[in-house]
Amino acid sequence: MAKKVLVTGGLGYIGSHTVIELMNQGYEPLIIDNLSNSEVSVLDRIEKITGKRPEFQQIEMRDKEQLQEVFWSNNNQIVGVIHFAAVLLVGESVEQPLHYYFNNLTSTINLLECMNEFDVKPIVFSSSCTVYGNPDQLPVSENAPIKAAVSPYGNTKKVCEDILKDASVAHPIKVVSLRYFNPIGAHKSALLGEFQSGPPHHLVPFITETATGKRAKLNIFGDDWNTADGTCVRDYIHVSDVAEAHINAMEYAIKQDDNSFNVFNIGSGNGYSVLEMVKSFEKTTGKQVPYQIVARRPGDVEAVYADNTKAIKELNFKTKRGIDEMLKSAWDWEQALAKQ
Ligand code: UD1
Repeated sequence: MAKKVLVTGGLGYIGSHTVIELMNQGYEPLIIDNLSNSEVSVLDRIEKITGKRPEFQQIEMRDKEQLQEVFWSNNNQIVGVIHFAAVLLVGESVEQPLHYYFNNLTSTINLLECMNEFDVKPIVFSSSCTVYGNPDQLPVSENAPIKAAVSPYGNTKKVCEDILKDASVAHPIKVVSLRYFNPIGAHKSALLGEFQSGPPHHLVPFITETATGKRAKLNIFGDDWNTADGTCVRDYIHVSDVAEAHINAMEYAIKQDDNSFNVFNIGSGNGYSVLEMVKSFEKTTGKQVPYQIVARRPGDVEAVYADNTKAIKELNFKTKRGIDEMLKSAWDWEQALAKQ
């Protein structure tokens, strides 16, 4: 029997890479997405890569009836849910907190209600290392204290984890929450990557756009942090490694007892500074990235990288792609985008 997995937000950056890994491993993804921050052409790209077009429905998850219809028409077929759908821009969340809370919380609550109604138990949730804030100890493990979120976006991740945890006590669901560190890069085919509408929001697209000449200089936010070279340290991980972790997480969730809640860090375990990222990019691609040091960015944390031993041990999680491959794939994607 086909193993159908409902993937919310499955046309987004991490969602679409996960759909490919699901298909590679014999699952049948059913994508729902409201296209608020994704493009329907991603389906063509997935088809080119896998040779098969995944099932897709344009659904607004904030409308419970639309979601119920999806569960109803796939009754007894969905083996689990991977929940990516969320609005996710830190700056925008400060300007539109109600939109962020309403969207991210309502979608999650509606999804859990539908899962209860239709007896679907396993759910893998997209969380973030943002819940650790500026950690007291590095590498940061899942047992580290949760810090007050800097942004409404970050808080939606924390509150959604709380909702999932409380729901798992009262209802027979099986929750796995994955706390991603910094996913970067693109599919090795350069057919799929992160689409930007407007200026980028993360470091690596800023680096690649500077390398193309689209931007004169990369702004580095502070070189007076308490790190080896003074710039912030993060745990960058290839998006395809993150995607693969979801299949392990889904299989783990399926095997758990009802009423379970488990959290895993999904990071490489290595910390790289902003300057190290620039240097690695230059070495790997042979392209120069002019930069200037500017003021610290409000809300940035100094250093964060994962203790990923729990995921390695319990999820059989592996990172297969190193920093050079991550940056090379990001560069190939940037060049592919430029040709469109
Ligand atoms: C950001 C979010 C985080 C979210 C994550 C994934 C903030 C404060 N945090 O993480 O909540 O979970 O994305 O969506 O926005 N940098 C530069 N110059 C640039 C861009 C970035 O120096 O032009 C530096 C930043 O200061 C940081 C590092 O690069 O040290 C990585 O930044 P970024 O890619 O934005 O990710 P995070 O801030 O780690």
